[in-house]
Amino acid sequence: QEILCFDSIDSTNNYCKKIAKDAVHGTVVISEEQTVGRGRLGRNWSSPKGEGIWMSIVLKPSIPPTEGMKMTQIAAASVCKAIREITDVEAYIKWPNDIVVGGKKVCGILTEMAGELHKIDYLIVGMGINVNNQEFPEEFQGIATSLTIQKGKKIDRKTLILCILKTFEELYQHYICQGTLEKTLEIIRLYSAVLGKTIRIIKGEEEIKGKVLEINDEGLLKVQLEDGRQEMLISGEISI
Ligand code: BTN
Repeated sequence: QEILCFDSIDSTNNYCKKIAKDAVHGTVVISEEQTVGRGRLGRNWSSPKGEGIWMSIVLKPSIPPTEGMKMTQIAAASVCKAIREITDVEAYIKWPNDIVVGGKKVCGILTEMAGELHKIDYLIVGMGINVNNQEFPEEFQGIATSLTIQKGKKIDRKTLILCILKTFEELYQHYICQGTLEKTLEIIRLYSAVLGKTIRIIKGEEEIKGKVLEINDEGLLKVQLEDGRQEMLISGEISI
């Protein structure tokens, strides 16, 4: 396995895309700073020098593209579990992409896939974790936080990275060997920020309310809508 570390780079996801064809499965790219960090839905991801973990993993699993988003769940479970183990901070998973502490976001995950209809060429799982940030720009203050702010002291990023990668490998292997997300879902359900809660589901212009009934064995969210219907959510924007 290869781990590539940079001082500064446009985006670790972009770099992975560039090297993906020749990269070995499991290649990890980490940078101290990203100049064009990317978030979901075309947003930017602020990635200041030395303050966070900006990291992407190249994966080449033999699974159908429809299963690709399960890698996001494996990543979310790994980050949440590792944060709890290393820092004692009470992190929760806001299905499917975010890790939150005290209702504010500490980590976002951006999974990107390349391939054809029936075959994945490669997957890139990008994780952005706010670790040692002391403060955020005003527009983020109500919605973002860092592990240091929550814990009240500095956190060693190396220890956290190692724990995330170890957990990711364990959950990934279990999924590939057993063909089920069982171990990942155990963590996702235990530390879910949405299970049993009423959430707002954002669909384009529309916003509907629903209560989360379960996270099923495929990792999908089963929601009871206010109008009596039930819906399975595959991914998408939700607010608590
Ligand atoms: C989101 O919540 O919108 C996802 C944020 C993902 C950020 C990470 S940081 C490492 C990797 N490289 C990027 O450009 N983005 C992801």
